[in-house]
Amino acid sequence: MKDALEQIRSEALANLAAGRDEAAIEALRVRYLGRKGELTTVMRHMREVPAEERPEMGALLNRIKDEIEARIGDALAAARADARQARASERIDITEPGRRPVVGRLHPLTQTTEALVDVFLALGFSVAEGPEIEDDYHNFEALNFPADHPARDMQDTLFIAEPDGRAELVLRTHTSPVQIRVMETQRPPLRVIVPGAVYRHDSDTTHSPMFHQIEGFLVDKRVTFGDLKGVLTEALRRFFGADTAVRLRPSFFPFTEPSAEIDIGCFNCHRRGGSCRICKGTGWIEILGAGMIDPNVFQAVGYDPEEVSGFAFGMGIERITMLKYQIDDIRHLFANDVRFLRQF
Ligand code: PHE
Repeated sequence: MKDALEQIRSEALANLAAGRDEAAIEALRVRYLGRKGELTTVMRHMREVPAEERPEMGALLNRIKDEIEARIGDALAAARADARQARASERIDITEPGRRPVVGRLHPLTQTTEALVDVFLALGFSVAEGPEIEDDYHNFEALNFPADHPARDMQDTLFIAEPDGRAELVLRTHTSPVQIRVMETQRPPLRVIVPGAVYRHDSDTTHSPMFHQIEGFLVDKRVTFGDLKGVLTEALRRFFGADTAVRLRPSFFPFTEPSAEIDIGCFNCHRRGGSCRICKGTGWIEILGAGMIDPNVFQAVGYDPEEVSGFAFGMGIERITMLKYQIDDIRHLFANDVRFLRQF
């Protein structure tokens, strides 16, 4: 019994020596002195000890119990002092300079998109969106693309193969299919802009396989080419500056007739040209494609081309952003390097 008591004593004192917190010390008290604790358990065996040894054993047991109790008291006092000390050192240093928060900002493409959308909202347009995975009908057929049009070729268009090998779905190559989707579900008068991502099998310093466009169209009775020119001139001046020169050149799109490319006077050289890198010396910058909506498009959505007319336009967000900020490689816009993005 003596050995058992000495064993408990040395173990208890060793456990209490380490820097324990209040909860751990309380657990040790229960373990050694509690109702079912180790010392209490030994005490129950006292009656098995021969009568002549009992006084000595009892005295030893009491000494050990007192000693452990005293150590627990010391350890608790030390643990409480440690806790007080820790709380005191947490005091706030009001003289420490503040930490500057990292402020995020909008991606330059988002900034361009929002600025353009704001211009058209102010002119009474509303915003529509459509799917990026599009069917051949909305991306091409309803927009009056003939079956053998080069845009329907594998070279330019990213097709999504059906399990049976038929390629019926495409990643939309432009935002124009949303013209069809809106006209299929709404009646004129319509003034709509469509910002969104588009996809083409194309990649170099000025082309990315995914890029963004803003489409716009206006349909009503007796809309003329003069309306097209007036609305787009006003919009471009609101975006690029009130003194911006605007020029139209004849062009072709399957879904507009007649069609035009619209250029603005170079904001860098103010049309002086020469060695200007922005306009490559021409004095003009091509900004958007536009035209009067083709009667075949109206027929595809069930509008009567004798009754309604309208114009449509489309522009590339990356192109406008790169011109505005003089960014020389489109890939900067998608690399997500904060050293680049922080500049805008
Ligand atoms: N969808 C054409 C393109 O991606 C742009 C465009 C839109 C032209 C509307 C005319 C009218 O090139």
